[in-house]
Amino acid sequence: MEKEIRNIEKEIKSYSDSSTSGIEKFRINFVSKKSVINKIFEDFKNLSVEDKKKFGGPINHIKTLAKKKLIELSSIKEQVGEKKDLDFDYSLPPQDDTLGSRHPLRIVRNKIIKIFRDIGFSIEDGPEIEKDWYNFTALNFPENHPAREMQDTFFISKNPDVVLRTHTSNVQIRLMEKEKPPLRVVIPGRVYRNETVSAKSHCFFHQVEGLYVDKGVSFKDLKDTLYYFAREMFGDKTKVRFRPSYFPFTEPSAEMDIKWKDGWLEILGSGLVDPNVLENCNIDSKEYSGFAFGMGIERIAMLKYGINDLRLFSENDKRFLEQFKGIN
Ligand code: PHE
Repeated sequence: MEKEIRNIEKEIKSYSDSSTSGIEKFRINFVSKKSVINKIFEDFKNLSVEDKKKFGGPINHIKTLAKKKLIELSSIKEQVGEKKDLDFDYSLPPQDDTLGSRHPLRIVRNKIIKIFRDIGFSIEDGPEIEKDWYNFTALNFPENHPAREMQDTFFISKNPDVVLRTHTSNVQIRLMEKEKPPLRVVIPGRVYRNETVSAKSHCFFHQVEGLYVDKGVSFKDLKDTLYYFAREMFGDKTKVRFRPSYFPFTEPSAEMDIKWKDGWLEILGSGLVDPNVLENCNIDSKEYSGFAFGMGIERIAMLKYGINDLRLFSENDKRFLEQFKGIN
């Protein structure tokens, strides 16, 4: 019996499982009616008077020890939670579990793409670091012509033939060089201009270009398509107007305005693809014609959401971004 008591005492002292199931196991083994300690009390009854004197003390001692241990295990559990939490490294920085929201430019870009997808346009992509040929020359900007200064360009000083694209029209050329009509694509992307950063202008912004080339594409197709776009984007009752304009790569060219509150607001540039541009891409301009357009995503987002400063789009201010939560 002496050895038995000593073993139980050792077991109680070394027990450390403070998980819910660990505590329950301890209670059953050492404190409950079925516990080993209770069993010893049963045996105790049959001992001689002499042995009773000898073992009474130690048996009561392990009984108290077990009760104290049970209380101790419960309080450990309360302090540090479940056993698995004991393995957790509390010195690690907390995990940020806040869910983000879609960026307003991404929301508007997706909406533009969806509107054109619904009428059979596919999506194209192209480089932001571009050769002069694609950004200017093939688009009918004559060399040393003032038209090049329409868009303030970032040049790479070591190689003046390389620019940061000033518009997404470069992808028109890349696509027409590679594939032959019929072509019907939209091209979203980032563009760069050497402008002072302010509420109204930025050194980079985003555009969606459109290109449609096939047999017999007319100015009427252009107007119908862009009118459809304006109504889908800004609502059924939206009024639009086309104003004559100039771009080296379209002829004739037009800017489209939408009626907004009391005035008219320009939202995109467009026109019939200049025959020279088709020929630069080895497309027969007697057989094919096309239209193209380009719009600024920021401009549309500013109208739709009443944003008044371009810089907000790239400042990563959570107070601004969080306002678009839940919009897809
Ligand atoms: N690339 C022109 C711009 O950035 C927009 C445009 C695209 C105009 C296609 C006509 C046709 O201003």
